Amino acid sequence: MSLAPLHDRIENRSARVGVIGLGYVGLPLAVEFARAGFAVTGFDVDATKVAQINAGKTYIPDVREDDLATHVRAGRLSATSDMARLADMDAIDIAVPTPLRKTKDPDLSYVVLAVEAVAATLRRGQLVILESTTYPGTTDEVVQPMLEAKGLKADVDFFLAFSPERVDPGNQQFTTRNIPKIVGGIGESSTKAAAALYGASVDRVVPVSSTRVAEMVKLLENTFRAVNIGMVNELAQMCHKMDIDAWEVIDAAKTKPFGFMPFYPGPGLGGHCIPIDPFYLSWKARQSGFECRFIELAGQVNGSMPQFVVERVIDALNEVRKPVNGSRIHIYGVAYKRDVGDMRESPALDVIQLLVQRGAEISYSDPWVPTLKEGTHSFEALPENEALRRRPDCVVICTDHSAFDWKALVDSGVPIVDTRDALRKFTAPNIVRLSGRAAPAPAVI
Ligand SMILES: NC(=O)c1ccc[n+]([C@@H]2O[C@H](COP(=O)([O-])OP(=O)(O)OC[C@H]3O[C@@H](n4cnc5c(N)ncnc54)[C@H](O)[C@@H]3O)[C@@H](O)[C@H]2O)c1
Repeated sequence: MSLAPLHDRIENRSARVGVIGLGYVGLPLAVEFARAGFAVTGFDVDATKVAQINAGKTYIPDVREDDLATHVRAGRLSATSDMARLADMDAIDIAVPTPLRKTKDPDLSYVVLAVEAVAATLRRGQLVILESTTYPGTTDEVVQPMLEAKGLKADVDFFLAFSPERVDPGNQQFTTRNIPKIVGGIGESSTKAAAALYGASVDRVVPVSSTRVAEMVKLLENTFRAVNIGMVNELAQMCHKMDIDAWEVIDAAKTKPFGFMPFYPGPGLGGHCIPIDPFYLSWKARQSGFECRFIELAGQVNGSMPQFVVERVIDALNEVRKPVNGSRIHIYGVAYKRDVGDMRESPALDVIQLLVQRGAEISYSDPWVPTLKEGTHSFEALPENEALRRRPDCVVICTDHSAFDWKALVDSGVPIVDTRDALRKFTAPNIVRLSGRAAPAPAVI
């Protein structure tokens, strides 16, 4: 099968593009394809999301509502739960979740369901791209055989590629459009087909030699982060023992103009990617008899941070002669990072769980997360001023949202455990930092 007809349809924008999974990754991608001039159909099993998109309403903070509505009104973007309509698509992008099971092995069930739907209507000339983060080998070992089951051959009758999504929700500077897109096909034609599609929609495409390389690129990127965050979290624990301020050390080290990149300690890893993806890699490597020691070690250190935070809470309460049991502890920020409402794998949940186990009464403030469930407990966010009016025994800053009024918090006099160095500008006896700070850093001369 020649690539030329699909290539022409991409070039003249008559190609119809389907995106399966309209979440943090899929919706911004669908909007980008629509902006490039393609007719885009989003497919999702969640009928609420489908209805919202068709009404021009966004539910992903990175997707502007006026932007989405413009494409919907122009007929360039619509959504459906009817998978049979995949038959009409020239190109299909799969961006469904790839979580880990409790046993830390990959759960490909969402990918398998989506690929089954694609396989059911697969026709000659279609381009299928997997975007979900996964272990090296998923595209050629799992997806390819499923799509070839009815006799069509990848890279001959249809095109198949992997292209990792690198979006960073909440990042204003780097978005789907200006983050370079890695593309690796099952064969040369597939790489060219996928590169042509993305080339029409994003600023830069980086082709690589295979789907496995493309899959591994994403895992290298996320493992790099997990390992470096693990290292600075260990540094924070070490600095605490030595009464050195880890943040001051990192900020000074980052003035080195080469060979250093800053990573910061915190209450633990969060989000859909960094705590999960490296374990996809270690699971797969173990099948080849290889133990990924860095990944396991970083997992252990990062996983120990919520307990380390609880120990700082015990220190803070100890200063005012109180036990954790029966204390009212208020959490500032529960989302996994600043200025997003994403709770997936948020370390605040672990901190809350550990404190509840010790008998603490928990409340929280988070402008991005109105309600919260942790185990059998449900919570409703309190406005900060109301929380401070109730005078909790201790406040724990788990997420440094920019909307928080830090001065009011410090001035309240309530003991505060700061896991994010959010209070770096303040010196007050009620602040307990994750790692020691004897005196404010001297002004730069
Ligand atoms: N969120 C991120 O920051 C990020 C960044 C890079 C890569 N990724 C990867 O991208 C993939 C998607 O992540 P996300 O954050 O967008 O997930 P998400 O949970 O926000 O969205 C996934 C969507 O897929 C839908 N879905 C699930 N099964 C489906 C099916 N069989 N058919 C149709 N729709 C289905 C869900 O209803 C949901 O709307 C994951 O592999 C993730 O690891 C995520």
